[in-house]
Amino acid sequence: MESRQNIEELVDRLLPAAQEAQRRAYAPYSEFHVGAALLTDGGKVFAGCNVENASYGLTVCAERVAAFKAVCEGERVFRAILLVSDSEEPVPPCGACLQVLAEFSGEDMTVISIGKGGEKAVYSLRELMPRAFKFR
Ligand code: THU
Repeated sequence: MESRQNIEELVDRLLPAAQEAQRRAYAPYSEFHVGAALLTDGGKVFAGCNVENASYGLTVCAERVAAFKAVCEGERVFRAILLVSDSEEPVPPCGACLQVLAEFSGEDMTVISIGKGGEKAVYSLRELMPRAFKFR
């Protein structure tokens, strides 16, 4: 688990990127706007927003957009992800996103969620997804 100071540093670095991405969320169906910012072990930040589709099941969450952008740029070990949403309370990533993050989380990673009211929740990925499916 990261120290309190590390969490603050992560929030300072990731929150502006997540908020900027949230403003670009494409969510005309749910009207629920989500932004995520992911920090890799290599020190790079990748942002994502949710992208919905008229065929609802094709929607992709903000966290997976950020994860896939990172992998596509050659970053395969994630240190932390921060998400912001329209929810008053902080929301954890959905199960599908937890499974995708687990693929690239190394030993573990930090998950920070901030609600509209400013409330902050800090989790470890292991705590949210203790039994992720791993093929090898
Ligand atoms: N969504 C995310 O982007 N991340 C989450 O962690 C939860 C849900 C999106 C998917 C959909 O566009 C909208 O929020 C409502 O479910």
